Amino acid sequence: MHLKIALVFIYILVHLHWSCTVDICQEDDDCKKQDVYDKTVTAIPEKLKDGAEEIFFVNSQIPVIPKGVLSKNPQIKKIEFLGTSTHSVEVGAFEGLPNITIIEISGTNVTSLPVGVFKDLNNLLKLVLKSNKIHSLENGLFDYLKKLQVLHLHMNKISTIEEGTFDNLEELLSLHLAKNNLSSVSTSLFSNLKSLKMFRLYENQLTALPDGIFDNLPDLEEIALQCNQISYIQPNLFPHKSKLTKLYLDNNLLTELQPDLFVETLKITELSLSHNNLTHLPTGVFSPLKKLKKLDLSSNQFSIISANFFEGLEKLTDLNLQNNSIESLKQEDFKKLKSLSTLKLGNNKLQSLPGDVFDSLPKLSKLYLNENPWKCDCNLLPFYEWMKNNKGKIKSKPPEVCELPKNLLNQLIISLTEEQLICLTTSPTTTPLLTSTVPIQMQLTIILFLFIN
Ligand SMILES: *[C@@H]1O[C@H](CO)[C@@H](O)[C@H](O)[C@H]1NC(C)=O
Ligand SMILES: *[C@@H]1O[C@H](CO)[C@@H](O)[C@H](O)[C@H]1NC(C)=O
Ligand SMILES: *[C@@H]1O[C@H](CO)[C@@H](O)[C@H](O)[C@H]1NC(C)=O
Ligand SMILES: *[C@@H]1O[C@H](CO)[C@@H](O)[C@H](O)[C@H]1NC(C)=O
Ligand SMILES: *[C@@H]1O[C@H](CO)[C@@H](O)[C@H](O)[C@H]1NC(C)=O
Repeated sequence: MHLKIALVFIYILVHLHWSCTVDICQEDDDCKKQDVYDKTVTAIPEKLKDGAEEIFFVNSQIPVIPKGVLSKNPQIKKIEFLGTSTHSVEVGAFEGLPNITIIEISGTNVTSLPVGVFKDLNNLLKLVLKSNKIHSLENGLFDYLKKLQVLHLHMNKISTIEEGTFDNLEELLSLHLAKNNLSSVSTSLFSNLKSLKMFRLYENQLTALPDGIFDNLPDLEEIALQCNQISYIQPNLFPHKSKLTKLYLDNNLLTELQPDLFVETLKITELSLSHNNLTHLPTGVFSPLKKLKKLDLSSNQFSIISANFFEGLEKLTDLNLQNNSIESLKQEDFKKLKSLSTLKLGNNKLQSLPGDVFDSLPKLSKLYLNENPWKCDCNLLPFYEWMKNNKGKIKSKPPEVCELPKNLLNQLIISLTEEQLICLTTSPTTTPLLTSTVPIQMQLTIILFLFIN
């Protein structure tokens, strides 16, 4: 996957250069400033194209980037090594380049970078080191990069980052550490990144986040923690939320949410908590999310849903409850969701629904109910009528089919006739069930009374 993306990217780059040099570039100053080397190149030339400010090595055979190799070309502003055979970068590799602002080394076999590699790069704004084989980061490596705004380290094998490694990056806006092998991080590691807007730690092995990790990061706009193994989020983990627009927590092991988790997160429009282990939610947990339009609660462990979960979500248009264990629903559950137009309830445990269950959803236009164990008997009649009258709203593919009774297995509900929806006992099954549960409840009440007294 990564390789493919990298190759497409490389192709675009090379292609751009070709079209540049071949047709457009003759009189274009920008093109004259670029210099691209391909896989036939086996060493970094001492003297590059005259005046070239942007240098690209694409798939070149450059095992080592030696000390001072570029120092005869002090005009360089940008240099990229993409898919080169590089396995090591020497201390001082970029020395003599006072004006360099962008360095990228991606898709190589580099496993570590020694302290000193980025020495004296006082003007560097962007450092991209993605898709390499880096396994650890040493304190001091980024110490000179006082102006750095973007640091991309994703798709490596980083499992340890020494304390202090990011301490001098006070201007950093974007830190991308996704798809590494971090099983824990400390609060102090990030506590000097006071300008940070984007924090990506998704697809690591994190089981928890330390207290206070975001306390010194007041400008965060994106926090991406999805695809870890986080089972608990402490209250007030995100103390600064006024600028937060993206918060990703899906694909973790969350079993509960703190009631105040989203207080002041006014700007979030989409929230996914899918693929967690949630069974219930605190009353009104989403109500601070005044702008929330899409809420994904799919692939959790919900067996019941309550109107309390959705308090304050008058603007919500999309609700995904797919792949839970929901057994029953009532009109009351959705009464707060006045703007809801898409509702996904596929792959749950629904056998039947009341005929009026969606009557409190005036805007509903896309409904998904398939992969539920529908029981096609007389109890389904009211909802069957609703389905017939609202065919245009039901968008499930494949459509809803019966699981019971056996003779109707896999029959399309919508193509049944009323006469097929029968209960075989003399009276509808709900009535005897009700009469038989009442005495049990009464007995329980009596027992409870005995205990309390
Ligand atoms: C670096 O940039 C400055 C300001 O743009 C310029 O005056 C100077 O000539 C550049 N240095 C080199 C070596 O190109
Ligand atoms: C990295 O090393 C492996 C194994 O030696 C090799 O097959 C692969 O081509 C190298 N990658 C690059 C970009 O040279
Ligand atoms: C991830 O790190 C652990 C140690 O924390 C190590 O045992 C494991 O081999 C690493 N996995 C990969 C894919 O590098
Ligand atoms: C989460 O749910 C999965 C699947 O139901 C279960 O196997 C696992 O034990 C649960 N984990 C936790 C931490 O609750
Ligand atoms: C459905 O949820 C279970 C656990 O709750 C998960 O293991 C499974 O991958 C989910 N299925 C899909 C299609 O997402």
